[in-house]
Amino acid sequence: MKRLAILGSTGSIGQSALSLVDLFPDQFQVVTLAAKSNADLLSQQALKYRPKLVALYAEASRPEIAARLPGIRVASGQTGITEAAVHPDVDAVIAAISGAAGLIPTFNAILGGKDIALANKETLVTAGRLVMSTVSRLKVKLLPVDSEHSALHQCLRGACRDEVTRLVLTASGGPFFRHTREQLDQVTVEQALNHPTWRMGRKITIDSATLMNKGLEVIEAHHLFAVGPDKITVVIHPQSTVHSMVEFVDGTVLAQMNVPDMRSAILYALTYPERWQSPLPRLDFSKLGPLEFHPPDLQLFPCLRMAYQALESGRSYPAALNAANEVAVDWFLKGRLSFNTIPRVIDRVLIDHQPIEVDDLEAVLEADREARRSAQAVVEKLACG
Ligand SMILES: NC(=O)c1ccc[n+]([C@@H]2O[C@H](COP(=O)([O-])OP(=O)(O)OC[C@H]3O[C@@H](n4cnc5c(N)ncnc54)[C@H](OP(=O)(O)O)[C@@H]3O)[C@@H](O)[C@H]2O)c1
Repeated sequence: MKRLAILGSTGSIGQSALSLVDLFPDQFQVVTLAAKSNADLLSQQALKYRPKLVALYAEASRPEIAARLPGIRVASGQTGITEAAVHPDVDAVIAAISGAAGLIPTFNAILGGKDIALANKETLVTAGRLVMSTVSRLKVKLLPVDSEHSALHQCLRGACRDEVTRLVLTASGGPFFRHTREQLDQVTVEQALNHPTWRMGRKITIDSATLMNKGLEVIEAHHLFAVGPDKITVVIHPQSTVHSMVEFVDGTVLAQMNVPDMRSAILYALTYPERWQSPLPRLDFSKLGPLEFHPPDLQLFPCLRMAYQALESGRSYPAALNAANEVAVDWFLKGRLSFNTIPRVIDRVLIDHQPIEVDDLEAVLEADREARRSAQAVVEKLACG
């Protein structure tokens, strides 16, 4: 029996994780659940799975949810979320909070020696070096949940690292693949949220449309697999069937494929090094049709290029890139910024950024705060202009 903390249980990944608990009730037990403010869904989940602790970031909703959950401890605020991550009865943490807000609880779970199934890519984008050195020092088992990194992990199993020449991350291209600049100028929030192959949270769906998601994944892959940016390439693969590939010295390419269903990657992260027999959907090759691969357009989708540059610049640049992106995407989702302005905000913030070394958590958080302040000033100016 694996005892789970699900951080971000009300989100897309969190709900997929709970669906796996339904499929494997004798193998998984929910010990803690955590979310930001969705008290209704969180209490429904708590009534169904009877965790020992429920944590809600929004302090004001604590009394309301506590009244609905007699017999279950309810915690709140940042300390409540961290309590859910480090609960003594938890074996494995599914880190599925969205954005940089996932960093503190995930890092604390690592310090607490928990196994980590990492969906929150921002943890590695903002603090990759610190996180991976801590994982290695404490011998923590950290497995990626992002389907691309899960694919890379699977292709690298048993591989001799000296024989790897390239990691190839696939990207669906999002809803605006093959759009022109003029078309991109006109896109609405609704269109940007209409992802062709994946159903995900709002923030990652916009990142997918700008290709920032792929940029964040390049940074994540760099830290997870200790591979330089020059050896990580991105290809657009609209069918989202090949989840990523590894190329070896002799030109051989190993690809990992399955239906686009995040439960596969979550299950792999929770069961590695085993593979469990599962009822998840299978590929039907007779219906698959052609698989296409195209180079990304870095002129039209500059967020991907900026992510490579931030990774190469190092220090606090990736944290600043991520923070600026979170602010710009938030404004876009509120209808206060156009789609094509998102990369302009990030570019401005990165130009102005005063880099610092990010060797500890406080330095990462300071870089994040500073870039948010800077992005806020930029968006306010652009929104007025
Ligand atoms: N969805 C996917 O298919 C997918 C694939 C690969 C990687 N990921 C990564 O997984 C993470 C989650 O993505 P998602 O699509 O599941 O996002 P989502 O649907 O927006 O869900 C986000 C979850 O995080 C919670 N949350 C947000 N801020 C929080 C805070 N400060 N404290 C506690 N909980 C907080 C939300 O609670 P409320 O509901 O109360 O707001 C919700 O439960 C992201 O880092 C994303 O990049 C997602």
